[in-house]
Amino acid sequence: MKIEDNIANEFDSFSKNYTNDMIGCVPHYLTLMSCFTEQLPKKFNPTNILDIGCGNGNVTSKLLSLFPDTKYTLLDASQEMLRLCQKRFKNSTVEYVASYFNDFDFKEDYFDLIVAGFSLHHCDANEKKNLFRKIYNSLAKGGIFSCTDLMINKDNPQHPKLLEEWKVFVNSNFADEKKWQWLKEHYDEFDKPDDYNNQLKWLKEAGFKSIEITTRKEGYWVHLQALKG
Ligand SMILES: C[S@@+](CC[C@H](N)C(=O)[O-])C[C@H]1O[C@@H](n2cnc3c(N)ncnc32)[C@H](O)[C@@H]1O
Repeated sequence: MKIEDNIANEFDSFSKNYTNDMIGCVPHYLTLMSCFTEQLPKKFNPTNILDIGCGNGNVTSKLLSLFPDTKYTLLDASQEMLRLCQKRFKNSTVEYVASYFNDFDFKEDYFDLIVAGFSLHHCDANEKKNLFRKIYNSLAKGGIFSCTDLMINKDNPQHPKLLEEWKVFVNSNFADEKKWQWLKEHYDEFDKPDDYNNQLKWLKEAGFKSIEITTRKEGYWVHLQALKG
């Protein structure tokens, strides 16, 4: 796969074999996906859910198994990813929004649950800070922000170790080194992960009081949940 000129085109191409590629390229992908349903409080029953960077709908699909009657808003810049979701969720109440996160009009005090699976590492530090504020304002009282991602700065001393381990993982799943070469090019071009300590700080600054790291693998593959009290 060649590298595209922007994130929307990049994920249009990536959408072709998306789930298999994610399982083979992202350590703990399935474990971290399961956090979106398994870590929610008992008796949580959301009316409105927003999936930020829905991709082909793997997070929403999990949530639908728990909350089939909830209203979903799926946000993504990639038209192809949204088209896959439209095919996948024909019988559910879903609104599709083709937009960059920065241009999306977040309704105030509206969503009970906002999820982001491996999508926010495409935003730089300032974009993340702004998004956390918008997410906080967009949650209804008692609402939850649930997020999984790679959380490590590229200048963190542990970053070279991450890349070494990641390369071994990807090469163990694909016959030749081409997948790793593509992934590394994609990572260099589009990915801007931040340390989870920074993200915790920005979530607190946005207003979140209760933030829980529910799962953390090898230090930097993280799922967290933040509650709007
Ligand atoms: C790695 S995929 C994650 C998909 C899905 N949430 C999952 O966990 O499998 C990231 C998705 O976020 C979208 N995305 C990344 N940055 C974006 C931005 N700034 N605005 C809108 N969509 C974005 C991409 O198009 C892609 O579909």
